[in-house]
Amino acid sequence: MNIVILAAGQGKRMKSALPKVLQTLAGKPLLQHVLNTALSIQGKGSKQGPIVVVGHGAADVKEFLANVSKADPAFGKVSTALQAEQKGTGHALLQALPKLDPQEPTLVLYGDVPLTSKKTLSKLVKLADGVRGKDCALALLTQNLTNPSGYGRIVRDADGSVQGIVEEKDASLTQKAIKEINTGIMVLPTGSLKKWLKALRSSNAQGEYYLTDVIAMAVKDGVPIRTTQADDEFEIVGVNSRDQLAVLERVHQLNIANQLMDAGVSLADPARIDVRGSLECGTDVSIDVGCVFEGAVTVAAGTKIGPYCVIRNSVIGKGVTIHAYSHIDGAKVGQQSIIGPYARLRPGADLANDVHIGNFVEVKNSKIAANSKANHLAYVGDSIVGSRVNIGAGTITCNYDGVNKHQTIIEDDVFIGSDTQLVAPVRVGRGATLGAGTTLTKDAPPNQLTVSRAKQISLQWQRPVKKEKKITAKKSAPKSAKGKK
Ligand code: UD1
Ligand code: CA
Repeated sequence: MNIVILAAGQGKRMKSALPKVLQTLAGKPLLQHVLNTALSIQGKGSKQGPIVVVGHGAADVKEFLANVSKADPAFGKVSTALQAEQKGTGHALLQALPKLDPQEPTLVLYGDVPLTSKKTLSKLVKLADGVRGKDCALALLTQNLTNPSGYGRIVRDADGSVQGIVEEKDASLTQKAIKEINTGIMVLPTGSLKKWLKALRSSNAQGEYYLTDVIAMAVKDGVPIRTTQADDEFEIVGVNSRDQLAVLERVHQLNIANQLMDAGVSLADPARIDVRGSLECGTDVSIDVGCVFEGAVTVAAGTKIGPYCVIRNSVIGKGVTIHAYSHIDGAKVGQQSIIGPYARLRPGADLANDVHIGNFVEVKNSKIAANSKANHLAYVGDSIVGSRVNIGAGTITCNYDGVNKHQTIIEDDVFIGSDTQLVAPVRVGRGATLGAGTTLTKDAPPNQLTVSRAKQISLQWQRPVKKEKKITAKKSAPKSAKGKK
């Protein structure tokens, strides 16, 4: 099957330097949503991938396509056709024509209609018959809207057979009353499409080559026209402005929230969660308000996530407690661990079971074994930490010398007193204790107390006293007289 995605339009109403199809919904460009669905219905066997008609901001769109195909080879099959001047949807499709296989039907999608489901498109493709080439029917995805204004209307005859599509700007009053609209998504027989597109004229209210005019041509040629509708209206909604984008974002997020709840996740408020990637949860996970999930996140059963956490590309084990305002990125958290509030786990933080990372503790590129704790104000970077280690408040691994990063190794059962600096590379032996305030520059032997600290002394000493303070002896003097004669 040929798939063409029309994406050359400007999107004036967005008032953005970014081409409209690159505006993001759930953290992904609109066009990427459409491409994901297109690739999923086209199947891996297909010789060529979807063809994106680019025009406005073509360089940006091409750059985006190059970047996504680097990250995911499936996008490598996607190609583009340039529509240098935007003369209408029919003219846009004409630019892709040389790339279309005439033996296969052509599915037309819009780059700014991001949420059409695979199910709906498969239904539409099937409706077009599945018979190869020009013999396939013409299938239109339509929708009945209470407010159809702005859309092309589906014109039917007395028997209900489709006669054509009339654009709002060209419609008569009677036609404007029609509630059934053209979503723009359709499947066409490619052989005939070639002929029809070449016959399009721009003698209409907008002076454009309307793709919708091919419907009447198909009727004339005796090609059967069939229609079907999507289950939900959001599937066919296009984005023209930032408010429409924001509305669609909330609809999409609410759908995701409902799926999560169906899968056994508790959400404090389904209207206050944002998933910008994939979130997989076990049963009885609970998520408080305001959490944002990005990239691929998995959360195992029974884990509780407090309010306003941001979690990206991470794997969270069973029964973990993540307190409010924690930021977790590229981390692994073992079961029963307790994180936050205000904890920061950065890429490469790999925590085993029952690890406690408390407030204002940052962990980066470090493995921490089971039952270890860093509960307050610490930085653990480029480290290997053993089991049952206690990292005191204010402890810092000094991993960076201004040029290179160095490793700190802390073996099992170590106790690190508060405000300790571990100047890497350095090793703390099993069972060692570091006294508070130690600046460790050499390895600490196992099972001993190591402390680097200036010796404490006490002296007889008079604290300096402010002179003016002594003058205030006259307590009875009125305040207003202060400083005056
Ligand atoms: C189009 C349909 C209308 C339908 C509506 C659904 C036509 C003539 N009209 O109207 O029946 O109800 O969509 O939203 O087809 N595009 C190009 N090149 C162009 C013009 C448009 O690539 O020269 C792309 C746009 O980027 C967009 C899509 O085609 O992705 C639709 O264009 P738009 O201008 O929004 O079409 P409408 O006038 O809304
Ligand atoms: Ca539109």
